[in-house]
Amino acid sequence: MMRRLLLLYLCVYAASAQGDLDYDDEETETTNVATENGTATVDARGHRPLTKGRETYNPARYIPPPVPSGGRYTGRPTSAPAGRPQAQEKVEQPESGGCTHADEKMGVLCPTGCELKTALLKQERNVRTSINELKPQVEELSRSSNVIYNSVNSMSNSLRERQRLITDNSRVVSQYTDQVEEHHAYIKETVDTVFPSNIRVLQGVLDKIRQKIQKLEKAIQTQKEDCKEPCKTKCPIPVVSGKECEDIFRRGGRDSQMYLIQPDASTPPYKVFCDQTTQNGGWLVIQNRLDGSVDFGRRWDEYRRGFGNIAFDSGKGHCEVPGEYWLGNDRISQLTKAGPTEVLIEMQDWTGAKVHAQYRQFTVQSETSNYVLSLDGYSGNAGNGLLEGATQLFGVNRTMTIHNGMMFSTYDRDNDNWIPGDPSKQCSREDGGGWWYNRCHSANPNGRYYFGGSYTRQMAKHGTDDGMVWMNWKGSWYSLKAISMKIRPFFASS
Ligand SMILES: *[C@@H]1O[C@H](CO)[C@@H](O)[C@H](O)[C@H]1NC(C)=O
Ligand SMILES: *[C@@H]1O[C@H](CO)[C@@H](O)[C@H](O)[C@H]1NC(C)=O
Repeated sequence: MMRRLLLLYLCVYAASAQGDLDYDDEETETTNVATENGTATVDARGHRPLTKGRETYNPARYIPPPVPSGGRYTGRPTSAPAGRPQAQEKVEQPESGGCTHADEKMGVLCPTGCELKTALLKQERNVRTSINELKPQVEELSRSSNVIYNSVNSMSNSLRERQRLITDNSRVVSQYTDQVEEHHAYIKETVDTVFPSNIRVLQGVLDKIRQKIQKLEKAIQTQKEDCKEPCKTKCPIPVVSGKECEDIFRRGGRDSQMYLIQPDASTPPYKVFCDQTTQNGGWLVIQNRLDGSVDFGRRWDEYRRGFGNIAFDSGKGHCEVPGEYWLGNDRISQLTKAGPTEVLIEMQDWTGAKVHAQYRQFTVQSETSNYVLSLDGYSGNAGNGLLEGATQLFGVNRTMTIHNGMMFSTYDRDNDNWIPGDPSKQCSREDGGGWWYNRCHSANPNGRYYFGGSYTRQMAKHGTDDGMVWMNWKGSWYSLKAISMKIRPFFASS
């Protein structure tokens, strides 16, 4: 019986301590992080160093060259057609990152509601499994406590019986009675000490569940407040359209806002944000982070299709404020393979300082090759991490942080260069987003959003530098305030 109690105790304890450690899990497992000494050692991370011994790192991989420069577009005419005011087609369309309410009749969720919806679903999943796990354990505990109480009772009865007998026949029974008394004392102590601690553990588990439920209730309440009115964001579709943003610019679309593009007659048109002011415009935003409103810890399928909010209307009647989004790997691949393409990566820290990295050639292969990235022709002041790796690191440690030539990885699809095939060695799982991870990164634009910039090992879910990192500018333990990636067909400027 003692053994069973002990087993049960361990079982309950293990259940209360276990947690699903996928980083997409809503519940932060802070206790999971090994604290070295309370203070974070702020060193250059990004890479996963070789363990001493036989392990080797093989950077060699076939890298398809980027689509070469020259071709599609000639330079812009010196005097661009005057930007006449653009007429707006008053087509109102729900624009909410493709997220509708579970019940269609309730309409389209506010952009934040979309995130909340997934958060709620995740929470619910967690609570359900906790309760399901707990139920048989509680039943088991109450069953065994009944058995024990009954047996203690009968033991006590038989003790009383024996004690009565003693008076009649003291000498014969005395030795036996000693044994029974000892046994009784032992079991009584077990009941007094092990049971209460079991109950404490259960109490802890219950408290945890109660907290989760309270969190859920609060989230639901907030959702109700936010969405009393069926919430719709209206983005009128501009009249000007084109293959991409450069095409739109040349057709007179000079305002930075949401446009409908159709790169290829065989694919349906879709919405993008065009930046028509930076460096003479024509930039198509493929990635944007600015306020942490969209979760970038997503699956392969979501990165393939794209996610987030393209744009908002801040009251001007058209959607001129870009949202946080990932355009989608299929679209990025199609756009960059259509001809020579350049990419502009702009970023901003929490003091407002801005830098950029620009590559004259940028190509993303198709899904059959896991969206291999190829780049060339760096310029800018943010640092050339994508081609050369993190400047804080040396030798093979730096090589491990080069992104050029890498395949795309998400937490459910491991294509990185960190011991392929070992499920415990996945960059995307540890570093927070989908990206062209090597072993692992010098840049992590799709990482987790940290408010304020500096963060520590202890704050990170897996103790790794999972923030929105650009090592060559701010190091591993600084998460940027904003970062965006924009592409434009490459043409020689005249
Ligand atoms: C660990 O932190 C304590 C203060 O929190 C400090 O006194 C001690 O020197 C630190 N030890 C090491 C090895 O850094
Ligand atoms: C690579 O990193 C490991 C651990 O951070 C370090 O021990 C090693 O000396 C580094 N190698 C080089 C060439 O810097």
